[in-house]
Amino acid sequence: MMFAQVLIVLVLFSGRECGMISNGDLINRVVNALNAVLNFISENVDDMNVDGLFGVALAEAHLLKIRELKRENDSYEFLSNQASEILKQIRWDRKNLSPNYKMCSYQKSFLIFSVYISVFLVKTFLLNVDIWKKNIEFTRGRMHTVEPPFQANTCSQYLNLMSNAYFREGFSDECLSRIINGSRRKEKNCHLDKFCFKYVMESKLMLGYGLTHKVLLLQVAKALGCKWNTTPKITKYCSHVLWEVRQDSNCGFIETLDDLFIEQILLCGSEGFLEFFQPSWIEHVLRLQSQFGCFGTLADETEMVRTKREANYIKFGCTDHATGLAAATLSLFLRILLLTK
Ligand SMILES: *[C@@H]1O[C@H](CO)[C@@H](O)[C@H](O)[C@H]1NC(C)=O
Repeated sequence: MMFAQVLIVLVLFSGRECGMISNGDLINRVVNALNAVLNFISENVDDMNVDGLFGVALAEAHLLKIRELKRENDSYEFLSNQASEILKQIRWDRKNLSPNYKMCSYQKSFLIFSVYISVFLVKTFLLNVDIWKKNIEFTRGRMHTVEPPFQANTCSQYLNLMSNAYFREGFSDECLSRIINGSRRKEKNCHLDKFCFKYVMESKLMLGYGLTHKVLLLQVAKALGCKWNTTPKITKYCSHVLWEVRQDSNCGFIETLDDLFIEQILLCGSEGFLEFFQPSWIEHVLRLQSQFGCFGTLADETEMVRTKREANYIKFGCTDHATGLAAATLSLFLRILLLTK
């Protein structure tokens, strides 16, 4: 009895002292959610597109890092094995990787130089867990204050702004394959053509997926060892992403932005910016999970922020994109909850 009381006091104290999220119940809920989403994916691997499976590779990388620190607990080993099994189950001959361009004259001339993403490149680079297994320094205070890029005084103005944000996903894929190809050269300059260079490096204001994909491309370049100074750009772009997430959160989370929300938290959160781990944001991701374990966030296609080619319905109203990325996001949450405890 006495011992129990002392223990409770200690728990309260340690929680208060470091001011961190230290919630055993939350950890268990994240573990259960992760288990459910990995089970779902493992039963539907053939329906998952490459983006979704990329999420599983990131999930495994985070889970392997957790295992290095929590060797005594079998739960984490179980989860990382689950992710690893999924990646082994992929039947590559069933994956369609060719970009689905809508041809316009500009793109036609651009396509002459196209380097398509092949199964080989995806397998060897993008879905290679070792590349993504990295140490992360989780800190607060590196985000810049940003000037709101556009005026949005109300939630409907904000949604309108995001809905009209223009972004061509095929173009970002094009730049992605250029980075991967560039990283295979010995000198690792990962040279980009003028268009991709402008997209990745120039500060032209973008919103939504246009912005998260800038972060993603920099992260891929960094992971593949390109000799770029990625840190200042990533910090700058993520500061803008944080502004967006805060708008969304202040609006009580706009349903049509939920898929984007998962991507935002995952990509910028992977840089260790603790600003992206508000308890209510973690709760929101948990709430988005369906009873079947998958995540469905294409609320209404007609008012979709942008036709997301890389998101497809699988079943139960879920999409491969949100489901795969959510697996990675939940693994990242678990990593943070366990490490900052
Ligand atoms: C292992 O982790 C799970 C999930 O967080 C937890 O419920 C369980 O109590 C832990 N087991 C041990 C032995 O620490």
